[in-house]
Amino acid sequence: MTELAVEAEGLVKHFTTRKSVTRAVDGIDLAVPQGSVYGVLGPNGAGKTTAVRMLATLLRPDAGTARVLGHDVVEDADAVRSAVGLTGQYASVDEDLTGTENLVMIARLYGFSAAGARARSAELLDAFGLSDAGARPVKTYSGGMHRRIDLAASLVMSPSVLFLDEPTTGLDPRSRNQVWDIVRVLVDDGATVLLTTQYLEEADALADRIAVIDRGKVIAEGTAPELKSSVGEGALSLHVADPARRAEAAEIVERALGTPVVLDNDSTGLSARVPQEGADAVAGVLPALVDAGIAVPEMSLGQPSLDEVFLALTGQPVDDADTSTEEVA
Ligand SMILES: Nc1ncnc2c1ncn2[C@@H]1O[C@H](COP(=O)(O)OP(=O)(O)OP(=O)(O)O)[C@@H](O)[C@H]1O
Ligand SMILES: [Mg+2]
Repeated sequence: MTELAVEAEGLVKHFTTRKSVTRAVDGIDLAVPQGSVYGVLGPNGAGKTTAVRMLATLLRPDAGTARVLGHDVVEDADAVRSAVGLTGQYASVDEDLTGTENLVMIARLYGFSAAGARARSAELLDAFGLSDAGARPVKTYSGGMHRRIDLAASLVMSPSVLFLDEPTTGLDPRSRNQVWDIVRVLVDDGATVLLTTQYLEEADALADRIAVIDRGKVIAEGTAPELKSSVGEGALSLHVADPARRAEAAEIVERALGTPVVLDNDSTGLSARVPQEGADAVAGVLPALVDAGIAVPEMSLGQPSLDEVFLALTGQPVDDADTSTEEVA
């Protein structure tokens, strides 16, 4: 049996103000095998940060239990803290210090010698492509550099379990790929990574297993292919050159895929969901249109989005935050 790096049972955190109760985390179970990447996927306000903060001992659960490498997050909080690294959703390094100064300071706090701290700092800056920026105050960094120095800061001690709260939100594709590569290297070296994200694509690229959370509850759990198969293989979108031929094109697509076609608001676009194991049907769409003499200047096949996964799982589109808040009478 695989050892679990992180386990949670019935984890609960409610925030109460005089006016309302927010069920931020409302009974979450998690089981994260050692050496894996586990994705916690959910929209704004789903409870991701609250859950991670409890697992990282920064917030005390109201109910339920959680263990990290077998240590209880409440009873053995110190043992948990020495095993985990955490990169928060918001930068936690000191803006006025340089990249090097930040990393050296953290290393010194962990008990590195002065020389050892400088060496560790240089090593991390190099690994994160920040060597040239090491001497500059962090407040002069771009968003992507900021994320990377933040990640570097959480890795000074090479933690065995790393929590990453939305590590790539707001990054451009290149910086995002760099962060993904860093995560992969960490896991190859034996670390366990639990990351939160709002992007199905990111969970898909990185995570061995994914928990989808909404309003403080796990609404689905599985591998990326398992989750995606709950919404079909994605969507086919196309544009016809001649608006007068769109209705005809829609019929052809509907016949080929066997799923309802949705017409875009413009006069030439349409889309349809691709059914499970529908790859062959997709391949037939373009020839059928060509046979009918319909010109199609644009056609694309997209993965299901988080919105589509949500719609399929909950029957409701992703809606923003605070739906789990109740007025107190
Ligand atoms: N300290 C707090 N006091 C009151 N309510 C809070 C507090 N922290 C979080 N909440 C509420 O709990 C819910 C879950 O918040 P949380 O930050 O965990 O969501 P999230 O999934 O991390 O969202 P995002 O993707 O926006 O970061 C939200 O409704 C939020 O407003
Ligand atoms: Mg958050």
